[in-house]
Amino acid sequence: MHLTDVIPWGRSLAEYQAMFSLSQEDLNKKRILGCGDGPASFNAEATAQGGRVISADPIYAFSRQQIESRILESYSTIVAQLASHQADYIWDLMQSAENVGRQRMQAMNRFLADYDIGKHQERYVEAALPTLPFESKSFDLALCSHFLFLYSSQVALKAHLEGAREMCRVAAEVRIYPLVAMEGGLSPHLPAVMDALQAEGIQTNLAPVSYRFQKGATQMLVLRRQ
Ligand SMILES: C[S@@+](CC[C@H](N)C(=O)[O-])C[C@H]1O[C@@H](n2cnc3c(N)ncnc32)[C@H](O)[C@@H]1O
Repeated sequence: MHLTDVIPWGRSLAEYQAMFSLSQEDLNKKRILGCGDGPASFNAEATAQGGRVISADPIYAFSRQQIESRILESYSTIVAQLASHQADYIWDLMQSAENVGRQRMQAMNRFLADYDIGKHQERYVEAALPTLPFESKSFDLALCSHFLFLYSSQVALKAHLEGAREMCRVAAEVRIYPLVAMEGGLSPHLPAVMDALQAEGIQTNLAPVSYRFQKGATQMLVLRRQ
């Protein structure tokens, strides 16, 4: 993987709580895997509160300095893109593209400050879906924020299905958000992924969440092994 292929953009624990309806009990008691956590501060913040979180992402092949440089070089382009696509987002909470940028940078700085120690503690694990280097049933909950379904044009249906199946192998429950594609509208892969997993005996549900930013992104997909 080339770091230049990645759009480094990291969300906070509060955003993960809202995107995935995470309860305090989820955070305190469950062994959680974050797939594609990238430079989010979810792991750093949840760990500081006593949570047990492992993040898996291909960018953890790179050093803190390399990830930080990539964040700094792409930051203004991402904020400009957000500003030019204002109509695709709900601005009640975030207010402006510059404010989103500041919040994301705060989260990414929190991640960067935790990265070396977290890698040493094996909380940041280099891995890419659809292959996770974990034993079956190692986690109570696996989360995937802003990777599957969002990148529906870049990631094929087969990769979505294999990725979701792999998360179900390692975790009793999987939550994926958002379900809308980058271009807007529900991901075209969603119905086929749900049908195929149901046929394999995995319980699939759409559940409302409180997080609001991308228009139409009001639900998460919940998968449970039966
Ligand atoms: C837009 S970022 C989202 C980061 C974080 N989850 C969040 O919501 O703030 C997408 C992440 O997906 C990661 N990614 C790309 N390909 C992946 C794969 N095959 N498996 C897991 N993660 C992948 C990227 O490295 C990047 O960190």
